[in-house]
Amino acid sequence: MTRNTKYTGSYTIGTGEKSVVVENRIVLAPMAGITNKAFLTTAKEFGAGLVISEMISDKGIEFRNKKTLDMLDFVGVPHPLSIQIFGGNSETLVEAAKFVEKNTTADIIDINMGCPVPKVTKNDAGSRLLLDPDKVYDVVSKVSKAISIPLSVKIRLGWDNDHLFAVENAKAIEAGGGALVAMHTRTKAAAYTGHAKDNWDWLGKLTDAVKIPVIGNGDIKGPEDAKQMIDQTGVTAVMMGRAALGNPWVLNRTRHFFESGELLPEPTINEKIQIAKIHLERLVELHGEHLATLEFRSQASYYLKGAKGAAKVKVAVNQAESPQEVFSIFEDFLNPSLTVFDSF
Ligand SMILES: Cc1cc2nc3c(=O)[nH]c(=O)nc-3n(C[C@H](O)[C@H](O)[C@H](O)COP(=O)(O)O)c2cc1C
Repeated sequence: MTRNTKYTGSYTIGTGEKSVVVENRIVLAPMAGITNKAFLTTAKEFGAGLVISEMISDKGIEFRNKKTLDMLDFVGVPHPLSIQIFGGNSETLVEAAKFVEKNTTADIIDINMGCPVPKVTKNDAGSRLLLDPDKVYDVVSKVSKAISIPLSVKIRLGWDNDHLFAVENAKAIEAGGGALVAMHTRTKAAAYTGHAKDNWDWLGKLTDAVKIPVIGNGDIKGPEDAKQMIDQTGVTAVMMGRAALGNPWVLNRTRHFFESGELLPEPTINEKIQIAKIHLERLVELHGEHLATLEFRSQASYYLKGAKGAAKVKVAVNQAESPQEVFSIFEDFLNPSLTVFDSF
């Protein structure tokens, strides 16, 4: 069995006319409430080869819920991009996938089979599907037949340590016509506890078991982790989530490391604030000023993480009621001689 050892170059998802060529091995993970149009645009600018939307409800699509339909707007995000849907029933997933193919700019549709949240699993969706490889096959084969663009699936290792069906599920995805499988190497029961890295060898089992590309995910903190994952498991590409929050540089630094072996420096706080401001501007375009200001609060704390004096700035941003207020808080922070922050 020969495993992938490539860090650079493109790879192809799917076959035929609608197959998708991805230019590099860096993937931005789907994150609910975060990977909307604003952040996907930024992640692309920072070198992600493939970006994946936050999970979007098949029921919301079925009922043409306005909020859900707004979440499907990715017009202007550079291709290729993938839109992730979730649901526990093959019929509604089929209808949702057909709707996404017809009405959005998605190049790939991804099905979420990893979400551990009870609100999702109690409806047989997300990681609940991992308990039954036959159901995984059923869902994937029905959805893949209903659309002409590639279908991918994001899974976890299993439901819990007594139900580790990762290999069976990956085979079911491939047999059902899935074009790619991505795996977060934790179980549903583990949620976000423990160390995903301890389970990376499972990704090697997947790359040995299926011919479709396998994307590895879980606790990649930077370029060196990413390289280690490829070396250890032969995955086609690496997927990063939390490491990119407030730090999309990690995507570009990883790409650069893969291409040259050189580690670029971490961004300065000035650079981070500059990108944070662009992030806020993009959220304003997406949601309007009020909602953008609220949504940006959690993002601001990621951008400010580790910066000297950040605690007070976070408090100020959390109380800000308009983007203009946030911009002037940042301005004051970066120009301490003028500001209220100079004494902190
Ligand atoms: C805030 C947050 C939201 C997430 N939302 C989703 C989601 O919508 N769909 C999904 O498949 N995974 C979701 N995940 C899981 C991530 O895609 C990823 O699998 C996980 O964070 C592990 O990767 P990391 O260690 O690189 O962060 C989410 C994770 C976080 C932290």
